[in-house]
Parts: sequence; C-alpha cells; structure tokens
Amino acid sequence: MEHAKKAPFGNQPCSFVIFGATGNLASNKLLPALFHLEAAGRLAENLTLIAFSRRDWTVDSWREHIRSVLGDKIGKKLDSPVFERFLARFRYQKGDLNEVESYHALATQLSPESACTRTVFYLAIKPADFAAVVQHLEAAGLNKPRGMSRVVIEKPFGEDIESAQTLNRLLHQHFDEEQIYRIDHFLGKETVQNLLVFRFANTLIEPLWNRNFIDHVQITVAESIGIEGRADYYDRAGALRDMLQNHLMQLLAVIAMDPPPALEADALRDEKVKVLRSIRPIIKRAVHAHAVRAQYVGGHVDGHAVAGYQQEKEVEKNSITETFVAAKFYIDNWRWGGVPFYLRTGKRLAQQSSLIAIRFKHPPQQLFRETPLERVAPNWVLLSIQPEKSMRMEIHVKQPGLDMDTRVMQMNASYLKTDEQALDAYETLLLDVIEGDRSLFIRFDEVEWAWQVIDPILKHWAVEREFIPTYPAGSWGPAEANRLFDNDDQTWRNEV
Ligand code: BG6
Repeated sequence: MEHAKKAPFGNQPCSFVIFGATGNLASNKLLPALFHLEAAGRLAENLTLIAFSRRDWTVDSWREHIRSVLGDKIGKKLDSPVFERFLARFRYQKGDLNEVESYHALATQLSPESACTRTVFYLAIKPADFAAVVQHLEAAGLNKPRGMSRVVIEKPFGEDIESAQTLNRLLHQHFDEEQIYRIDHFLGKETVQNLLVFRFANTLIEPLWNRNFIDHVQITVAESIGIEGRADYYDRAGALRDMLQNHLMQLLAVIAMDPPPALEADALRDEKVKVLRSIRPIIKRAVHAHAVRAQYVGGHVDGHAVAGYQQEKEVEKNSITETFVAAKFYIDNWRWGGVPFYLRTGKRLAQQSSLIAIRFKHPPQQLFRETPLERVAPNWVLLSIQPEKSMRMEIHVKQPGLDMDTRVMQMNASYLKTDEQALDAYETLLLDVIEGDRSLFIRFDEVEWAWQVIDPILKHWAVEREFIPTYPAGSWGPAEANRLFDNDDQTWRNEV
C-alpha cells in the first residue's frame, strides 16, 4: 500500500519459515496464499520456504501434505509446472517449539548456499507459544544480525493489556519494531482496503461521514461455522478476544478515522490510534449496558443439526466462554460525539457474513407527513465484506403512480466485475511481509488501546462466572443483544 514501492525482489527475504506448518491456519490460509503468489510470479527465485512442525515427517511427506491440503483449492493446477516449482521451494524441519536444539537445526536450513540472512518467521501457532518461540529464536542466534529478519505474529496479541505489554517487551528485546509484523488479516480484505478509497477518494461521501448525518454504525462479523476443533485456544479466548478486540476494533478504526496526511504506514496508524484513544472508557457499573455475551446451544445451521458449544470436543464442562459478543462504544471526538457504534460477532450464527451498516439520520423535516409515507425510513450505506464484496447505498425514490409513495433503491457500487476475483487477505498481507510494507499491520499502540477499551468488559466477565445467556445455533444470537440500542427505531441489520 505504501507509495514508494521497492525494486522488484530487492530487500526481500530468502527464507520464509512457517512455525505451526501443519496447523489450521497454515493449511487453510498460508499455503493457498503462498501458492497464489507463486502463480502470480511474486516470489523471488531464491526464496526458500521452510515448514516447521512437530510431526515426524520428511520433506517428501510434507510435499504430499501440501498436495492434499491444496487439492480442492487449486484443482487442475496441481499438475502444473508452477505447482512443481512451489513444491521444490520447500524444506521440512521437524522440531519442538520448546526445544532450543530444534532452532539450531532450523538454522542449518536457512538458505545455506547463499549469504542472504533475511528470514521471515511466521508464528502460525497458539498465542500461548509466542513467547517461547521468540526466546528460542534469540537463543539460537536467529535474530542476528539484528534488524534483518521479520517476525509475523498472529492475533490475539496477548490475552489482556498486561500480557500484551509483556509480549511486546520481549519482542523488543530481540527485534526492532520495523521487524515486527502484527497481523490482523481483516485489514487485508479487499472491502476493508476499499473503505479507505470509498471514504477518501469520493468528495460525495466524506462531508456526510460524521455525527451531523449519521445516526449510528453497526459492524457485524457473523460466522455460521463453530470452533472447528480449536477448543484448546478458543475456550480460553472467547469471542471478545478472538474477534472483537482485533478484527472488529480495526474495522471500527478504519470507518471512524480522519484522513491521514499520506498513505504511509505510520500516518495511517496514527489516525487509527487517535480513534481508539477517543473511545469513551466503559466504567465498571456500565459494563452490562454496553456489552452482551452469550454461548450457542444445539440448533440447525444450513439445514443441518449441530451440537452446542459445550458438546464440542475438548470444551470444558460448564464452560462459560462466550461464542457471541455484542458491544456499544462511543467515540468522544468532534466527528463522532454521540454516535453509537454497535459491534457484534459470533460463531454458529445464521449466516457467514460480515457487514458494516451505516444508518443515516431521519430528514430534519417531516415533509411527507400528510402522505401515505408519513415517515420515510432512513438511508443506509452498506459495506459488505464477505461473502459478497459490495458497497451499496439505499436511497428513496418515488414509486410510479398517482400516490406519493416511495420505494428503496440500492445504488450498487460493487467494485468487482463479474470476471474478477477478489484476492484473499493473506495473499495481500504475505506479499506485504515479503516486500517489507507494514501499512496493513498493527502497531503496538493500536493493540494496547484496543485492549484498554475492552479491559473493563474482560475484567467484569472474569468475575461473573455463574451464568451465560445462550442462543440456538443457526440464529442471529441472543435477544439480549437488542438491549444495547439507544433508540427504539434502531435494530440489527442482518442482510445487505
Ligand atoms: C480468525 C479467528 O482470526 O478469524 C477465527 O481466530 C475466525 O475464529 C476467523 O473464524 C474469521 O476470518 P475469516 O477471514 O474466515 O472471516
């Protein structure tokens, strides 16, 4: 995203290590994204990919594994020379994240035949293991020479503000800030990047983007999937840490930020931080009025019966981990003072859909009061992140006929033409890591402020452990989520 694009392949790493190579993230996101970059000719010839995992495999069994995980994603391309080239890049390092010898062994794999020392270390592992990896990288001398390599850290960064600060201090002992890529893959999604263009490249929009015209903002990230076998992580994290503290907070920041002076990493991040800092702190006794949590019980998703959260494999009996969270925030600045931002996310909801819905105010004059219309419904701007990638604006037009009646038309500014395919967020972000562009990665003060915002909710829920409301799988979450609204005419917008 940054202006000054680098010379092709200059300044790029020659080794890319994936810790947790056999895990969900690597299989579902990283390997497909790296393959697509290979197919697009964006990986330098001398780049070696190294899979690090505990499994007792050889490089050949690892290559078989790639074949099987990419099978249904890339179809016929499995037989192409591009795929062969991709496979040939890989080495496999069997190792234990907690044993320094494994890192010494890894060191021998890093581009042994060249003088290039720039490596990407991608931590596609449980957050609980981040610290151990960073310490062992240092112990094996893999952070040397200082300033060269890049470390990619997945979210959540810490599990509360204190642990995030501790992790950050540890990282800074061994790596410079320029080497640290805190990833939030929502920022790599096309619609999210397009939000910047929508807001700052259209004079039509920006003058309306404030408390004078906007009634409230809703951000929904609904998932129909469950926890997909990740109980050991999810049961500790819950929806607040897994999604709201990072993905939804980042969306909020991009929607609400002021235009940056330039499209540069720090300029963008400065503006996001200003938003996060301006969020009104939730005082202890107001937590109930600002946040709702719930957990799914059995139900039906896409016509199939699914089990409740407590019946998922390895979830603790009587767990009160939330699989749904909704919260209300106010941004106390001149642009947004008094405009509620309603955020919600959950697993096993009715649909897999992420939508930013911006509701405008009613017209100040009730001009149509004496007509069948009485009160016209307000306008909405709908930014759909997934599965549809679109931007729509709802406006009123007169219905043809003798009466003064209106209908709502959607002006559709979907930016993908029928023959175009959106990039996966990880393709964009992995390329940014390789090219050294940090614009779409998170600076620590963003992480810190986001934890600060949700800290009162975390603390309150940590002591209220007797009860959690439930919702049936396949629904839109608990009815309690409606109590967050400030006005009777506000309701959740589920569909585009
Ligand atoms: C991850 C969360 O960060 O994002 C998962 O840990 C969630 O729980 C996923 O399912 C959603 O991302 P996407 O891109 O599939 O919508």
